[in-house]
Formats: sequence, C-alpha cells, structure tokens
Amino acid sequence: DPELVAKGAKAFKKCKACHQVGEGAKNRTGPILNGIIGATAGQVDGFKYSKPMMAAAESGLVWNEQELAAFLAKPKKYMKGTKMSFSGLKKEKDIAAILAYLQSVSQ
Ligand code: HEM
Repeated sequence: DPELVAKGAKAFKKCKACHQVGEGAKNRTGPILNGIIGATAGQVDGFKYSKPMMAAAESGLVWNEQELAAFLAKPKKYMKGTKMSFSGLKKEKDIAAILAYLQSVSQ
C-alpha cells in the first residue's frame, strides 16, 4: 500500500534522530534498520547493543511484525534495560505505517 508507506516515511522522522535506512545508511545512536523486518535482533555489524538486546538475540528473538509492534509501542516495557531511549509510538496506525515503510526500504 503506497499510501501507508508514504505515511510511514513521515512517521519515521521520529526515528531518524537515531536510525538511518537505505543505501549508504550508517550506524548512529541506533543501528541501521535495513532489512530489519524478519531479521534476528542485535545483528547489525559494528553496533554495540545493550546487554538485554544481546540476550534477546542469543535467545533467538526475530523482529517479525508482531514483535516490532510491541517493541515500538513501549520499548522500555518490552525490553527492560534497552538503550533505545524512545518513549514509544502511541498510535497503532503510526506503527503499521512505519512497519510498511521499513518493509519497503528492505526490499
Ligand atoms: C534499536 C527501531 C527510535 C535508538 C532498535 C531496533 C529497532 C529500532 C527495530 C532493534 C535493532 C536491532 O535489533 O538490530 C526504531 C524505530 C524508531 C526508533 C522504528 C522510531 C519509531 C529510536 C530513537 C532512538 C533509538 C528515537 C534514540 C533516541 C536505538 C538504540 C537501539 C535501537 C540505541 C539499540 C537498543 C539496545 O541495544 O538495547 N530501534 N527505533 N531508536 N534504537 Fe531504535
């Protein structure tokens, strides 16, 4: 749905302070998010994750849409001790839009 993707690109502005996507993306405060949907957590080369994120990675957390939606709604509640300092997305519509956008940049 191209409209949802466009909405997601707008909503992704909230993430851009810390995350880059697309060609030439670099790790900043947060890791690159290329290909994140369906990826195992904590796998971006050269990024230093928190201990709980590394533990989640070791126990095989995969960022499917359901896990991402839960994480993005309330990061600190979803993962105690995560170093993602973001309060979360209140609107389910924003979450759906951002997931559509992330999917679109991951092709
Ligand atoms: C981690 C998405 C906002 C900083 C992550 C991860 C995702 C994500 C999917 C896990 C990456 C992985 O496992 O490789 C998003 C989205 C955002 C957002 C979609 C906007 C809605 C932010 C903001 C900041 C931030 C605003 C900085 C203030 C981080 C950091 C990590 C992280 C530091 C690593 C967490 C850890 O190791 O515990 N983010 N993020 N993110 N994000 Fe974000």
